[in-house]
Amino acid sequence: MIGVFDSGHGGLTVYRALADRFPGIGFVYLGDHANAPYGNRPSEEVVDLTRAGVETLFGAGARLVLLGCNTATCVAARTLQQDWLPKSGWEARNVLGIVAPTVEAATQTPWAVSAPQYPQKYNTDVIAVFGTTRTITSFVYPEEIRKRCPRATVVQQICADLAGAIEAARPESELEALVKRGVDGLLAQTGGQPPHRAILGCTHYPLVEHLFRRHLPSFTRLLSQPEIVADSFEDYLSRRPHYAAPTGRATGPRLLTTGDPVKVTVAGRVFWPGVPDFASAA
Ligand code: DGL
Repeated sequence: MIGVFDSGHGGLTVYRALADRFPGIGFVYLGDHANAPYGNRPSEEVVDLTRAGVETLFGAGARLVLLGCNTATCVAARTLQQDWLPKSGWEARNVLGIVAPTVEAATQTPWAVSAPQYPQKYNTDVIAVFGTTRTITSFVYPEEIRKRCPRATVVQQICADLAGAIEAARPESELEALVKRGVDGLLAQTGGQPPHRAILGCTHYPLVEHLFRRHLPSFTRLLSQPEIVADSFEDYLSRRPHYAAPTGRATGPRLLTTGDPVKVTVAGRVFWPGVPDFASAA
């Protein structure tokens, strides 16, 4: 069984892409709704909450957990993978983040290749990253992109209120104003030069991809994470098929929350009209 973790509902965009792509694999989702959103929290809190979420998913039977949340990945993935997991007592388990496949797609370079190579070495594209405060201030995306494409210009833009407004199902006009504010802020940084590629670096943004599309020119390639992650997972599981092996448990949708399951299920319909019922993670 494979776990997908997010601070709240946004990771459902990733969960759905994976469940659709791999119908034979059991997935379990955990949304930490009791503590969402993570985007403006101090880093130490994000690390502690993410570790607790991973442990809940391991306890539920997951052997591999994908942090479907950009904030959790940028702030906590390395600490959990390198410092916590080896000493945690959880054996034969792994934690993956959502940044690696996104950077691979943005740079057209495998994650394992962390030094610039032809032709990416000479790539002078402008690459935009839109995300939460904590994702952007972690500088993980620009650092990882520049390792592979040192001549690319990476421009980051915080969309501070956008994830919350999507989560709250605010009207389309309000969401569009927030997207436009983000795009305008980005263009103010580039002197009006639109990006060649734009990373929608927050789990919620695929739900307003059409609004980003509306405010960016057609030559800007939007990198939307659910598909990118599903592609990358296909490659990962082909090399580590034991994570996809049947566990004997039912493979139907399994959604857990640290919040109130009834309220969370109702709110989840914003993201997924036919969302199955959440159950309590406690
Ligand atoms: N899931 C978060 C992310 O992808 C957005 C919501 C939050 O701030 O917790 O960054």
